Amino acid sequence: MRIFSFGFFVVRIQEGNKKMNTTRINPRRRPPPVLETERLILRRPRMEDAEAIFESYARDVEVTRYLNWMPHTSIDQTREVLAEFIDRWKSGDSYEYVLENKDSNELMGMIGLGDEDAKAVIGYVLARPYWGKGYMTEAEKALIRWGLHQGHYQRVHAFCDMENNASSKVMEKAGMQFEGVLRKWCWHPQADQKRLRDCKMYSVIN
Ligand SMILES: CC(C)(COP(=O)(O)OP(=O)(O)OC[C@H]1O[C@@H](n2cnc3c(N)ncnc32)[C@H](O)[C@@H]1OP(=O)(O)O)[C@@H](O)C(=O)NCCC(=O)NCCS
Repeated sequence: MRIFSFGFFVVRIQEGNKKMNTTRINPRRRPPPVLETERLILRRPRMEDAEAIFESYARDVEVTRYLNWMPHTSIDQTREVLAEFIDRWKSGDSYEYVLENKDSNELMGMIGLGDEDAKAVIGYVLARPYWGKGYMTEAEKALIRWGLHQGHYQRVHAFCDMENNASSKVMEKAGMQFEGVLRKWCWHPQADQKRLRDCKMYSVIN
């Protein structure tokens, strides 16, 4: 089994592409390919995005400090993950969007919504030059609006490393409620290579 991870999402590719046989309560509803906010375009990723993703944030050790993947050391790694994201739009397991600046068309980061039947999990990452300007809060609100307030999910949640204060703040500003600490919940190898890290869980429910 090969494992990729990006943002929060860990993608497991079973040998022979076997799927797990699970019963779903909710029919899957695909989010729109493009979501628009005041300053951002959220759109489906394309293979041509690999270079901008690699250069702007995937290789940045500051960006990946509290993520479950190590900084990419080659663009081929970025391409591999991107190909997986493009496939996952088709399978409906998760929907990762590229964040683009509406005015300049620059690629700024990514935000994704993982389908967990009646629940959804959100994960996000932004290139450093754009931090602290409210962009991720804006993007997360748009995904919550689609996922929760339009009735597609009963619960939308997200979690972050105990020390990732910028991320906690994003969840709070996007209207999520702090639920508690998940002890030993995530691998964040840059923060600790050997021990699982405690995380803070936030959610909003319908
Ligand atoms: C987390 C991240 C997405 C935030 O994106 P962003 O667009 O900068 O977020 P926003 O500007 O909407 O909000 C960030 C808030 O955190 C605050 N903040 C930033 N760094 C902080 C810190 N170290 N301690 C406390 N607050 C902090 C900002 O001041 C801002 O709050 P304010 O609007 O009240 O001033 C971005 O920092 C990032 O990509 N980090 C690396 C990847 C990552 O950690 N992703 C999340 C995994 S859970």
